[in-house]
Amino acid sequence: MPSPLSDASQQVRIALGERSYDILIGPGLLAATAPWQGLPRSAAALIVTNVTVAPLYAARLRAALAPHYRQVHEVVLPDGEEHKDWSTLNQVFDTLLSRGCDRKTVVFALGGGVVGDMAGFAAACYMRGVPYVQVPTTLLAQVDSSVGGKTAINHPHGKNMIGAFYQPARVVCDLDTLATLPPRELSAGLAEVIKYGPIADMAFLDWIEANIDALMRREPLALAHAVRRSCEIKADVVGKDEREANLRAILNFGHTFGHAIEAGLGYGEWLHGEAVGCGMVMALQLSRRLGLVDAAFAQRVSALIARAGLPVVGPALGAERYLELMRIDKKAEGGEIRFVVLEKPGQAAVRGAPEEMVRQVLADCTR
Ligand code: NAD
Ligand code: GLY
Repeated sequence: MPSPLSDASQQVRIALGERSYDILIGPGLLAATAPWQGLPRSAAALIVTNVTVAPLYAARLRAALAPHYRQVHEVVLPDGEEHKDWSTLNQVFDTLLSRGCDRKTVVFALGGGVVGDMAGFAAACYMRGVPYVQVPTTLLAQVDSSVGGKTAINHPHGKNMIGAFYQPARVVCDLDTLATLPPRELSAGLAEVIKYGPIADMAFLDWIEANIDALMRREPLALAHAVRRSCEIKADVVGKDEREANLRAILNFGHTFGHAIEAGLGYGEWLHGEAVGCGMVMALQLSRRLGLVDAAFAQRVSALIARAGLPVVGPALGAERYLELMRIDKKAEGGEIRFVVLEKPGQAAVRGAPEEMVRQVLADCTR
């Protein structure tokens, strides 16, 4: 299929056999015609969004979809990580059923990662699966959560514990939507951008360091490169290990500690990206204590995380609470906590670590 994009925009293919799809990246895509062509055909579409994003972008998406679907329904969810739960998910099912949506209805997830994860999970479940399209509007969602088909809701016992692997039909990243993102959310997205450097691409880490101020100023070319390169790295990893048999776990660098921070403080207290940023500092210190990277490298990446406006000191939940929360991480095996660590700069692996060492990291990195 020829590229549906103009020259100013870019396209990354995620190669998964019959589940392959494109990530379209560029300015003005919501109002453009091409990104909405060639999607699964249906009489009806459902836009899943939230109270913050709906007033900003839902009308634009609705107008773009109108030529393609006889009915364009909408469900507007409450905003926040604390609403990524069963009762909010049920609002999507209630809408699908009350509007008589059939098994061909196409779901459009318009918003950040919370909306994307919930809409994707709803699409995976509704009538045993309807197609969906990710329309991510946060930096974090454009560089990470909208890509790769992980969908989930939280459980009070653990983050993203109830979910499914279910790939979208397309991802449409309109870079213009990043203009309205609050600064704290931009920083949260930069955590996931930075992540790709130490785990997979040292040249990208160099580029992020050189361009962090431009990214913080939201310079369009810098943002476009960050989104494209992040999506390329993620597409490569997911293409090799869609269901996280092994390799894909490297994308969770910083997440074992980060998920514990999120759950320990109560979802929504720290943003996901903030917890990941701080979690990466902890994972760097663990890698250093394991003798895998030197102190200078750990310091270099931690300094970049700080320059992105992210916290580098974790909340003092107490080592016991951290350990308890990390034991129910999805990577844990037989009660043993497993961490994504750096084997060397630019390469990550999953492994266990002596509990005493983890306690030392927590003592060093929390206050
Ligand atoms: P989010 O979805 O909560 O969005 C952040 C905030 O920005 C919200 O208040 C939202 O309403 C608002 N917002 C969204 N777009 C906006 C815009 N363009 N302008 C102004 N405000 C806007 O958070 P997030 O950081 O996008 O996503 C975090 C979630 O993603 C977490 O639940 C995390 O677990 C999940 N996640 C999933 C994956 C995956 O692979 N599925 C990967 C990483 C993170
Ligand atoms: N964000 C981690 C993953 O998609 O695997």
